[in-house]
Formats: sequence, C-alpha cells, structure tokens
Amino acid sequence: MPTLEQEINRRRTFAIISHPDAGKTTLTEKLLLYGGAIQQAGFVKGKKNSKHAVSDWMEIEKQRGISVTSSVLQFEYNGYCINILDTPGHQDFSEDTYRTLMAADSAVMVIDGSRGIEPQTRKLFKVCAMRHIPIFTFINKMDREAKNPFDLMEELETEFGIGTYPVNWPIGSGDRFKGVYDRDAKHILAFDNSGRGRSIAEKIEVGVDDTDGLYNVIGEELANQLIEDIELLDGASYEFDIDQVHNGQLSPVFFGSALTNFGVEPFLQNFLNMTPTPLARKAGEDTIDPMDSEFSAFVFKIQANMNKAHRDRLAFMRICSGKFDKEMNVYHVQRNKTMKLSQPQQMMAQERGVIDEAYAGDIIGVFDPGIFSIGDTVCSPKMKVKFDNIPTFAPEHFALVIQKDTLKRKQFVKGVTQIAQEGAIQIYTEPASGVEKVYVGVVGVLQFEVLEHRLKSEYNVEIIRNTLPYEEVRWIQNENIDPKSLKLSIDSKLVQDFKGNYLILFNSIWTVRNVQERNPGLILSEVNINN
Ligand code: G4P
Repeated sequence: MPTLEQEINRRRTFAIISHPDAGKTTLTEKLLLYGGAIQQAGFVKGKKNSKHAVSDWMEIEKQRGISVTSSVLQFEYNGYCINILDTPGHQDFSEDTYRTLMAADSAVMVIDGSRGIEPQTRKLFKVCAMRHIPIFTFINKMDREAKNPFDLMEELETEFGIGTYPVNWPIGSGDRFKGVYDRDAKHILAFDNSGRGRSIAEKIEVGVDDTDGLYNVIGEELANQLIEDIELLDGASYEFDIDQVHNGQLSPVFFGSALTNFGVEPFLQNFLNMTPTPLARKAGEDTIDPMDSEFSAFVFKIQANMNKAHRDRLAFMRICSGKFDKEMNVYHVQRNKTMKLSQPQQMMAQERGVIDEAYAGDIIGVFDPGIFSIGDTVCSPKMKVKFDNIPTFAPEHFALVIQKDTLKRKQFVKGVTQIAQEGAIQIYTEPASGVEKVYVGVVGVLQFEVLEHRLKSEYNVEIIRNTLPYEEVRWIQNENIDPKSLKLSIDSKLVQDFKGNYLILFNSIWTVRNVQERNPGLILSEVNINN
C-alpha cells in the first residue's frame, strides 16, 4: 500500500493553455495516448464538435456530464498520476477558463510556431504569471513553416518578461523539418513523416561537436545552422535553473509537432521531471502543506447541471491537502456546516466514475444542491482553515439587461443573482439605483446566450439585451476615496458589483488612461482579489 506521501508525490496537476487552433486538443490527445488512457486519437472533444459551440453548452442539457469530461482528465504514466485541467477556448472562453488556472500547479503553453504569441495565450499567461506557477512552452506545428526560433524566444522573453530555456532546438521547419536537437542529451530526434501523420522519431547520438556526423545526418546547410544556433544558445541564453522554473521566471521550451506525434513523449518525460508536486496553498496567515494528513479543498468551478427540476450543479474542488474518502465528514467553512460530499466523481479519461478516494493534487466534482460558491473551503472538521479567495477577473463584453415582463421582477433578480454567484457572469448596478438596470459583464460572448437561455428555461424570464460599447472594466482599489466624487469621462461609468465593490466601465484602454490621469492616486485593477 503506498503511503499518503507517496500518493501525493506522484501527482502532477497542470493546465494546457493556448490560443484556439494552436494544437491544445491534439497535444492533450497525444498525452493521453502515451498514458494508455485512450486507445486511439479522436476522443478529446475536437474543434469539429465544438463548432456548434452555442449549443455546446446546451448539449449539456441532453448529455449531462460531457462538460465534466472536458474539465479534468486523469491518467497514469510511468508511475505518475497526471491531472490535466482543460481551459476552454473558442466560444466557450469564460471566466471559468481563468479560474481553472487557480487549481493548477503548472501550465503548458502551446504556441503555433508559425504564429507566435496570440491574444488568448497572452490573457491566460497573465493569470499564470500572477500566481508565479511554472510555465512550460511547447512550440507546435514545426512540420509547417515556422518563425525563426530565436525570434520566438525573443517574443516570449520581451512580451512575457520571462527567461526561456530551450530544452531542444528545431532543425529546419516545414518541408525541411529534420527534427530537434536535445541540448542536454546531445542527440538528434530525427523527424520522418513518411508514415503520414504518424512520424517516426529516431534517436541519433550525434553532438554539435561532431560536424561530420551532423553533415551525414541532416546535410551540410542545416548542420552548419544548428552548430551556429547551439553555440549562440549556449553562449547567450539563460542557464537552466530549476528554482527559476518553479517560480515561473524561466520557461523550459520544447519544439515539436503534436499532430504527427513528434517530440511529445520527450516533452512529457522532461515536463514530469521538472514540474512540481502538488503545491502548498495560502490560507490567510497559514500555508497548508499538501502532505498534511487532514483533508482540505477549495471550490474553483461550478457547473450548472441543467436539471431544471432540481437546479442541481456540480462543484469542482481542488484537493489541497491529505486524502479524501467518500464516507468522511467534511466541514464547509463558509456555511459552518459538517456534511458528507455527495456523489464525488472524477474523470478517468472517458469514464466519469464515482470515486472512493482522492489525494492532494486531485480534482473532484461533487453534487451541489446550490450550497457552494466559487472559492469556498471544505476540510476535515478538525482542520478549520479558510483558503484565500479566488480572484474575479475583468470581463470584456458588456450588455444592459432588462426583463421583458415587469411583473417578473423577483424571478429576474433571483435568476441573475444566482447565475452571477456561480461565476458564469458578473452583474453590476448603478450606485444607489437598486436593481433597476442590470449591467452584465462576460469574458466570452457565449455567456450572454447562456444567460438568456437559462433565465428563460430555469426562471421563466425573458430579457432584452442591449450590447454596450464598453470594453474594459477595473475595480477601484483605494479604500479611502468616495468613488462618486471621481472625475469620470463621458465614455466611462461607475457601477457596483453584487458584493458592493465599486468598478468603472470604460469604452477603451485609452479611456482608462484618461480617467487615471484625471484622478491622480486612483488605483485600478483588472483583477479583484478581495471579492
Ligand atoms: P486547439 O485545441 O488549440 O484549438 O487546436 P487543435 O488541436 O484542435 O488543432 C487545430 C488544428 O491544427 C487542427 O487542424 C489540427 O489537426 C492542427 N494541428 C495540431 N497540431 C498540429 C501540428 O503539429 N502540425 C500541423 N500541421 N497541424 C497541427 P484542423 O484541420 O483545423 O482540424 P482537424 O480536421 O485536424 O480536426
């Protein structure tokens, strides 16, 4: 029987972040293949299926649990127990995507080698950087014409302010892609795509100091280029430092091609060696060690489960310490109640099963009759900790929402408030105006449709939605100013969220700067940590 410590030490929990189409789904699928968790490609919900993204969410109505499938996947590989957290992209992009990163211990950033850093990666990176979690970079699609690898490194370093450490280095790209050179092991992993779609990766022991050997393997031109590149890298780039990797200051970089399954396994092996075991978590003044024998967890995501009759939901929890046992009593800190978690479940690749036990690092989904909120702590009754709040992130799309039938005011207010509590949308009102006008902010536009659909089906309320021209929102962080006395511009508006915090809506980033200039000392934030 493995000990608690052994079980926790073999866990690796990470998220894969990318801009849509960079290859996140393909890479995830290949990782699952290595874990033997799936037998063939095509299982992970691909782009083809999510093309009906509007209905993607509504599909949940019909197939309860499909979204759970894509929320977290657990599989075994070489003695490791791996949890991959999905960060929905495409039209599903929402605040949940950000919050998922709160439950991860590291992130793998997939970048399309021909495109470099793209907007969604930028947004997700910011959240990872805020937590200082390790970030690994997989530069994908090297079988296609890619940007110069040095330019890609520079992009990462200047845009993200992190160092890069290429673990391997590409030899050509596109039609001339010959593979990668492993800098430490000093061998070439040769790319041969004659197998069509499934590349054959042959390991050839040849270092950059063996010029003739290299000429034989990759030809004179590419060999000379590689020798020059490696010399430059060894001389001028960052040195490998695992502490810096763990602080999120240095990103190990790997080149490959997920589609042809090239470079994925060496990536996985190196990644598992470098990425940390489950991290300790802050709970006020305390830091909770994952090895603590008492169980503790926090809720990072709530998924409406669409059973209209019951309004039941699934609450996703990240276990922070100890071991969870389905028969155990747990203490729900925010409600001051001791209870059993009902129907705890976990994803084992395709299968969603009720689980008997889980360990620090794992994610479990539990049935939620409407008692949990994002950020709640559950723990062993002996423990009584309260984990720090999960921040709220700035939405980017805004609308004014009014109910069609004024007699349904009560249902309307209840509906928007409950949906806001789940964290799918943010709602704001004008100060001292009650809930006459409700401003809704969302991270991804799909959430507007979700809101409309849910208000109608669950609360029987129809709404009129007017899109607003705001693009930015900031929380006011100053404690001792009267927000109503601020000098705003005509294209900005002061509002309050449902917890009473003051925010300002802005038409553009320029308006943010303008208002800041008009009000020296005003502290604005894109993230609200205090809630
Ligand atoms: P995402 O989850 O990040 O959105 O990306 P996804 O894996 O769905 O990949 C987006 C497209 O890029 C897919 O093509 C996929 O096959 C392709 N792709 C992924 N990795 C590589 C790679 O290493 N090399 C090349 N050449 N292509 C890659 P699609 O035609 O849009 O979809 P599909 O028909 O293949 O499903």
